[in-house]
Amino acid sequence: MQEHVAIASRHDRVRAAWAQHLAASREAILLGVARCAQRRRALVIGAGDCLDVPVEDLATAFGQVVLADVVVSPVARGLARRFCGRVQCANWDATGALSLLAAEGDTINPAEVQRIFERADPGPPPGGEPDLVVSANCLSQLGLVPGHSLPTAAVDKELPGRCAVAAARRHLDWLAERSGVRVLLADVARLNIAPDGRELKREGLRERFGVRPPDRVWRWDLAPIPEWAQDFHRVHEVGMWIDGP
Ligand SMILES: C[S@@+](CC[C@H](N)C(=O)[O-])C[C@H]1O[C@@H](n2cnc3c(N)ncnc32)[C@H](O)[C@@H]1O
Repeated sequence: MQEHVAIASRHDRVRAAWAQHLAASREAILLGVARCAQRRRALVIGAGDCLDVPVEDLATAFGQVVLADVVVSPVARGLARRFCGRVQCANWDATGALSLLAAEGDTINPAEVQRIFERADPGPPPGGEPDLVVSANCLSQLGLVPGHSLPTAAVDKELPGRCAVAAARRHLDWLAERSGVRVLLADVARLNIAPDGRELKREGLRERFGVRPPDRVWRWDLAPIPEWAQDFHRVHEVGMWIDGP
């Protein structure tokens, strides 16, 4: 929930810097819509506040739109009310691991945590098998955020990163099992950019997650100075992949 509030309030502060990324994400989703021969159901995973999701277009194109997130936001609930009957919210954990981790308690060891993320089953898609499934800019967060909150991460600093890789790979396998059109929007790299435009640091994610080169790439000016740091802009390279029939 904290994560969600942080995203919404940063968007309020740096709206103009995010505009291009949000427009590119919505356009990618519409490319996915155009590929769908059948338009019974669309599923959006990591829907959040739907800043990057063209909900009205989806509600026009599909009989049912499911907005799934581990935290259903008030914005998503408002969209469900606005497009009453066509848009629904689902409180759903895309990793399938969070309830297992909660049941294990604080004494769980790092190897066991990683094993849970690797093997957990999120189950069938909420709402039923979709004709379009969108994974909306959540891939790199799936294991990272819960990984950081585990007590055992205090002694094993690499644990959140390993959880992120395990959860991302598991999500990609789950997506590949879907029969409909799949649109993946995800971070390809995290960059620190100096005020003069020099690239100070690049952390590549694509190879780590084991995903092919994206069909399109753009930059998301996630945290312009001084949001994240006084001396560099935090920028993500975002990729989009479209697969399926
Ligand atoms: C960077 S935000 C994506 C932006 C969002 N599509 C929007 O436009 O507001 C990542 C989203 O993934 C969601 N998320 C994180 N872990 C998740 C999980 N295990 N299952 C489902 N959603 C998750 C977060 O709650 C957050 O809303």
